[in-house]
Amino acid sequence: MLSRSTHRGTICLEDAPIISQTVFAGDQFLLRVSAPRCAERAVPGTFAHLTCDPLIPMRRPLSIMRVDAQAGWLEFLYKPIGPGLERLAQRATDDVISVLGPIGRGFTPDPERPVILAVAGGVGIPPVNFLAESLHADRRFKLVILMGSEVPFPFELTARSTVLPGLPDSASMAVAQLEAWGIPSALASKAGFDGCFDGFVPALAREWLEARPADSLGEVQIVSCGPHAMLEATAALAREFDLPCQLAVEEFMACGVGGCAGCIVPLHKPEGIVMKRVCVDGPVFDAAEVFPG
Ligand SMILES: Cc1cc2nc3c(=O)[nH]c(=O)nc-3n(C[C@H](O)[C@H](O)[C@H](O)COP(=O)(O)OP(=O)(O)OC[C@H]3O[C@@H](n4cnc5c(N)ncnc54)[C@H](O)[C@@H]3O)c2cc1C
Ligand code: FES
Repeated sequence: MLSRSTHRGTICLEDAPIISQTVFAGDQFLLRVSAPRCAERAVPGTFAHLTCDPLIPMRRPLSIMRVDAQAGWLEFLYKPIGPGLERLAQRATDDVISVLGPIGRGFTPDPERPVILAVAGGVGIPPVNFLAESLHADRRFKLVILMGSEVPFPFELTARSTVLPGLPDSASMAVAQLEAWGIPSALASKAGFDGCFDGFVPALAREWLEARPADSLGEVQIVSCGPHAMLEATAALAREFDLPCQLAVEEFMACGVGGCAGCIVPLHKPEGIVMKRVCVDGPVFDAAEVFPG
């Protein structure tokens, strides 16, 4: 039975049957669930808080990677690191999980800066993928997506059809779906995968930024999601090149809806340090407030 109720007016609680669960190399899972109310409201950068198994009392937060609002489904990409997501990985088609979402504030790209450089790493790739899908037909923006992973990318890859000035010849591969949407992408890894830049993804972003004429940097903004060290390096790049940058931040969560203060982070505002909840005040924050340098 599908039970639904709303929370804070925008967050829905839905019993969500699993439509499919696909496993990729590197212990990565792509989960599609039916949750029409959540799918209708989701925007890039928001997440859902999911039950994994009746034996695991705490929900786990996962970024929303794709939605089809008409068909009423949501997709998540995850890599278990503990018992909750390990249990979720064992759930099968037609099992029902509880989805609380969409939660949080997503990315708010600035139309004054038409070039969006997206820097994503590991399980930080989903929100950037959602942003790409939602903006690919928006003529105000041109995206360039750089992704890093130390396990095989859980996407079909293809040779990039466009030249990205500044990128080394080794970074020749792109994500096929992004190519189909007309969005250039490039990949970075220290794992020696073919067609990938040999290094971490912020280093690849630096190559791209350094190759741009200085007078064109005023068109650029950065969005990023991934491991803490990657976010810190990306925030430092944004500072160095004087670019606005939005980060989707991850923190351990309990309630996921703003009630427990379990996920607070310090933000560096002009008036001093302000504590904010990642779940409902974020997860997207201004990089300069998270990492003031
Ligand atoms: C907004 C948001 C979006 C996210 N999106 C994704 C995503 O798309 N894909 C993805 O794979 N992951 C995502 N994550 C991360 C994921 O939710 C967490 O890593 C989650 O805890 C993993 O669950 P698990 O059951 O695998 O591991 P857990 O059982 O949660 O444990 C993981 C590790 O963290 C430690 N730990 C757990 N809780 C705490 C705590 N309160 N304090 C300190 N250490 C603790 C454990 O000891 C263990 O070492 C996201 C997190 C957030 C906040
Ligand atoms: S997890 Fe409870 S306030 Fe964010």
